[in-house]
Amino acid sequence: ITIEWDAEAAEKGGYPHFVLKEINEQPDALRRAMLGRIRDGQLHLPELEKLRKEGLFDRVQRIIIVACGTSYHAGLLAKYVIEQWARIPVEAITASEFRYCNPIVGPETLCIAVTQSGETADTLVGIRQAREQGAPVIAVTNIVASAITRLSDAVLYLQAGPEIGVVATKTFVTSVVVLYLLGLYLGEQRKRIRSEQMSAFLAALEHLPDQVQHILDQAAGPDDVIAPLARRMASVSNMMFIGRGVGYPTALEGALKLKEISYIHAEGFPAGELKHGSIALLDPDTPLLGIATSSHIYEKVITNIQEVRARDARAIVVATEGDERVKQFADDVLYVPATLEAFSPLLAIIPLQLFSYHVAVARGCNVDQPRNLAKSVTVE
Ligand code: AGP
Repeated sequence: ITIEWDAEAAEKGGYPHFVLKEINEQPDALRRAMLGRIRDGQLHLPELEKLRKEGLFDRVQRIIIVACGTSYHAGLLAKYVIEQWARIPVEAITASEFRYCNPIVGPETLCIAVTQSGETADTLVGIRQAREQGAPVIAVTNIVASAITRLSDAVLYLQAGPEIGVVATKTFVTSVVVLYLLGLYLGEQRKRIRSEQMSAFLAALEHLPDQVQHILDQAAGPDDVIAPLARRMASVSNMMFIGRGVGYPTALEGALKLKEISYIHAEGFPAGELKHGSIALLDPDTPLLGIATSSHIYEKVITNIQEVRARDARAIVVATEGDERVKQFADDVLYVPATLEAFSPLLAIIPLQLFSYHVAVARGCNVDQPRNLAKSVTVE
């Protein structure tokens, strides 16, 4: 017998596209990102030992996270948790703005560069400038020996494995996890996290790969609701994504995924900001996607979703399994398992990635190589 095959199909491991393969690789990518870093219920980041011995984590006054695109969204999430866990002020800034804003940095400002490729021009230039002013730099990247590693005092690798699809999926979740580990490390160094809190955080992190797998298994099964919903939404022209707290960067990332691969105009907003202008865009043809997973501001998000439905806009809501009440406020619900609030974006983003993928496929888009985009942006 003769078996027809080609090298690219073999590399896709049976998936029709690299993007879908990489979405499905996220449980393993997350395990690799934590491998050796969570051991026996303890956090280990030996890459930071030299900086610790130099006393950086005692003296740092401020943190600036410099990144672009999806990596910037990971940085926005890190801002929320580092401020909570370490009580150090954090600013996340788009690299193309940072490099031209004459930023105030110095030896007490820790700069964190987040770039999965390690080659993004704006991030490299911004970080080089910060170094020239004496700022210590930690790089978070997926590519060993990439340009950013040569500009950094320490490197935390994502260990996500190769990502071929232009859109970042597994490098997003692993960037978030690595930044979160860094946040926990800083909290520990600053004596802001008690050991029982640390144990609870690490246990919840270790549980995430199985929870992501659970979402993926459901999506691949006969009761999947994501692909049918995506097919119904494939002809819309605009979509809005909202969230609060850590749900806000999740909304930004969900909107970016959709516009990148399906070419549907999508915007992410802080849910409370809608009524300050953007709500004017809503009509029955503009669906809203709300992130309403369990959180201390859940009720506020629900209120914002109700405001939207009062304008006859269709509401798709990402919610926590077991939340039956949310069905009153939603036309469609995409459920994710329960976790600690800080970690909820790592689960909420999975149905949003799958949604974007299926919308793009239904629209006949080139999901692995979207128009006008490059995997790493090495020019300004
Ligand atoms: C993500 O889906 C995009 N391809 C893009 O926003 C990307 O995250 C951005 O260009 C930054 O890339 P980097 O992480 O390699 O620096």
